[in-house]
Amino acid sequence: MKIFIDTANVEEIRAAHELGVLAGITTNPSLIAKEGKDFFATLKEIIAIVGEQPPISAEVISLKADEMVEQGKKLAAISPNIVVKVPMTIDGLKATKQLSEAGIKTNVTLIFSSTQALLAARSGATYVSPFIGRLDDINQIGMNLVREVSEIFQIHSVPTEIIAASVRHSAHFIEAALAGAHIATVPYKVIEQMSKHPLTDQGIAKFTADWEGAKLSAF
Ligand code: E4P
Repeated sequence: MKIFIDTANVEEIRAAHELGVLAGITTNPSLIAKEGKDFFATLKEIIAIVGEQPPISAEVISLKADEMVEQGKKLAAISPNIVVKVPMTIDGLKATKQLSEAGIKTNVTLIFSSTQALLAARSGATYVSPFIGRLDDINQIGMNLVREVSEIFQIHSVPTEIIAASVRHSAHFIEAALAGAHIATVPYKVIEQMSKHPLTDQGIAKFTADWEGAKLSAF
């Protein structure tokens, strides 16, 4: 399973990129708004850090199909790795079809059921984003959705990739990998959480203490 970062914060993107683990970036209007900077300028800053290879999802704002297509084309013109994020609505499906026919990659977002995922895939979506955490928040098991979509896509050889989204902690990440997601998009704090284990810290402390105690010279 590939790792995407879910943020519009360029410092977090830089930090994750430096780790060599980053295969892509997802943003959404809330994440862009949180940074309080120009949308297009932010995308250009991100591209300056990660280059023109990793997919970068940038979401349209309009809810009307023709305007979504127009906005999507403007976003896609920034760089070949821009993926146009479209909300899962009837208009979103229309826009996805048109963008896909224009050779533009799409990520259909706010997926909360398998029927939505299959419709999005059939309309030509490159990616679908089932939201795990937000389903958990309403007392449904978000991971069941990822598992179900993954099974349906496998049975029917659907080429659309599944991005496990709304990932809140490292257990979500592992479960999404086991449930068959191709990608998990995670906040930077989850990447940090995934890197940590108390036994690693204890091990480092012991190695350091033992080394210092022996007073050997090296390096
Ligand atoms: C995915 O593309 C979304 O940006 C994101 O994962 C939403 O996560 P949240 O539910 O934590 O806001």
